[in-house]
Amino acid sequence: MREFNEKTLTDAVIARLEGTPDPRLKEVMTSLIRHLHAFVRETKPTPQEWFAGIQFLTETGRMCDDKRQEFILTSDTLGVSMLVDFLNYGKHPGATESTVLGPFFVQGAKEIPIGGTIARAGTPGKPALVLGSVKDVQGRPLAGATVDVWQSGSDGFYDVQKTDGENLRGTLKADGKGEFWFRTVVPQYYPIPTDGPVGRMLKDTGRHPMRPGHLHFMLRAPGYRDLVTHLFTSGDPYLDSDVVFGVKESLVVEWEKVESKEEAARYRLEAPFWRVRYDFVLVREK
Ligand code: BEZ
Ligand code: FE
Repeated sequence: MREFNEKTLTDAVIARLEGTPDPRLKEVMTSLIRHLHAFVRETKPTPQEWFAGIQFLTETGRMCDDKRQEFILTSDTLGVSMLVDFLNYGKHPGATESTVLGPFFVQGAKEIPIGGTIARAGTPGKPALVLGSVKDVQGRPLAGATVDVWQSGSDGFYDVQKTDGENLRGTLKADGKGEFWFRTVVPQYYPIPTDGPVGRMLKDTGRHPMRPGHLHFMLRAPGYRDLVTHLFTSGDPYLDSDVVFGVKESLVVEWEKVESKEEAARYRLEAPFWRVRYDFVLVREK
């Protein structure tokens, strides 16, 4: 057939996928075309509106480089990243829940020893001690598990958004008992970047750009599924309206204020400092 109309076009486009050798690609493309055409049928965009959509995607692409990922921000703010996470990682009884990766993870961050700090000297913020363990669902320690941690500063920026070098991120290894601890500053709530098309979309839809204060973690151990998660700060004003829908109750932690000078000295900190402990539980690879 040569000529189509609004009733026959969708099936005609799908029929052109006939020769796709990869069955999964064929399935995904078929669904994409069906849903995209259904979206256009439902919303009936004018040519100007359709072009505005194309311009949004064009600007999103232009905004991307090795430090800025506006497509991830789009996916995050539309709830798609969390949906992919729900459908893939899911819930496992007794295991720590996952949440969104975000665009600021850096592979190969500096290695720190147990007890080291991820905060460069002079980093503003409340001094913090993070104690943790990595275990499996049977409670067996995962000795030597890799713990990647990263967070924004009290100015609301990650190091990769600035030019003064690596800070507030690091990689450490759990000890023989699966335990680890490190020093940092208490994370603060912050806005995701709003100087691009995602920021405009949030503004145009009356949404704020804030994420509640959190520490990012990626935990890895051979034979176990990588766990990408956060620890969120209890009492944060944005816990109920996280712009990327990433909060899970089981990941909200209390920072305890510690006044004892002896306790501070034990951890190479000054009093007062703020302490949190979390026991991470990984699931076996399928
Ligand atoms: C973050 O927590 O780093 C983040 C997550 C999603 C979008 C933007 C930032
Ligand atoms: Fe973050």
